[in-house]
Amino acid sequence: MKEKLQKIRESAMREIEEAKTLDKLNDVRVAILGKKGELTAVLKSMKDVSKEDRPLVGQLVNETREHIEAKLDAARGMLEKAALEARLSSEVIDVTLPAKKNEAGHRHPNTIALEEVERIFTGMGYEVVEGPEVEYDYYNFEALNIPANHPAKDEQDTFYINDEIVLRTQTSPVQVRVMEKGKLPIRMIAPGRVFRSDEVDATHSPSFHQIEGMVIDKNVTFADLKGTLSEWAKEMFGEDTKVKFRPHHFPFTEPSAEMDVTCFKCGGNGCRFCKGEGWIEILGCGMVHPKVLRMSGIDPEEYSGFAFGIGLERIALLKYEIDDMRLLYENDIRFLKQF
Ligand code: DAH
Repeated sequence: MKEKLQKIRESAMREIEEAKTLDKLNDVRVAILGKKGELTAVLKSMKDVSKEDRPLVGQLVNETREHIEAKLDAARGMLEKAALEARLSSEVIDVTLPAKKNEAGHRHPNTIALEEVERIFTGMGYEVVEGPEVEYDYYNFEALNIPANHPAKDEQDTFYINDEIVLRTQTSPVQVRVMEKGKLPIRMIAPGRVFRSDEVDATHSPSFHQIEGMVIDKNVTFADLKGTLSEWAKEMFGEDTKVKFRPHHFPFTEPSAEMDVTCFKCGGNGCRFCKGEGWIEILGCGMVHPKVLRMSGIDPEEYSGFAFGIGLERIALLKYEIDDMRLLYENDIRFLKQF
């Protein structure tokens, strides 16, 4: 009996050593200590042992079991610890890895410049309105005192949908649409896309943006026009900016002018940026022509007003010192990122 126990004990030790997983270890336990286990069988056979030998044999059996159980527990402890370590190292999180960044976009330079213009004019009490990009010839030309045979029409050589409908060549038709509504006084700006059949180059594009402006009220004079636009220029390009009005011709204003601002790079001394001029042309403007007022149902004897048209790209190019308009439309993130 003693030898048998000794054999069970030795083989148990070996099997436990060899069990490399918790499952295997459990199989070993069952094979020895389970209902049909080797040691259990020995216990069951105790009844065949003579009475006097029983205490001694019993003690031996117990010792063997305790010894095996202790060894099993120790082996399980070690296997569990190893399993935990394996899991920890396979699921490891490297907290020093750079985080995935959310690539936040930002506004296009055109939009930044437009919002700046809008901010300044709404601050002066102007409303921002919009008109259609596909426009009637009537609004784009006729109602602005540009009749069918007018040379200005040629200048703005146009994309026609049919005889009556064009892709608007300017935002000025929005003036007419607002005047027609009959609500006076008017103080509005109208930004938007315009179209001309221009060849693409550094300063031209068949599609670009303008910001129209118009004020109609009683006793509006050229002094109001000058004051308003020079205040806007100071806000837009810096406190020291001066403005200059040069006589010009637009069919829908009389008198008409083009406005220049002192170069904000050299302050007016002349530099590469302003091509040595000291001045940069920025917009067209004038007092709304009485004929234009009348065509839209406003009495020029009672009301007067001024209007202006700003080229948005021109402003954006100047403000951000970009020397080629095409860059604004190429959607190259490396370029756009800079603003
Ligand atoms: N519409 C003109 C253009 O596209 C710009 C312009 C000039 C608008 C004078 C005006 C204005 O409102 O008064 O060239």
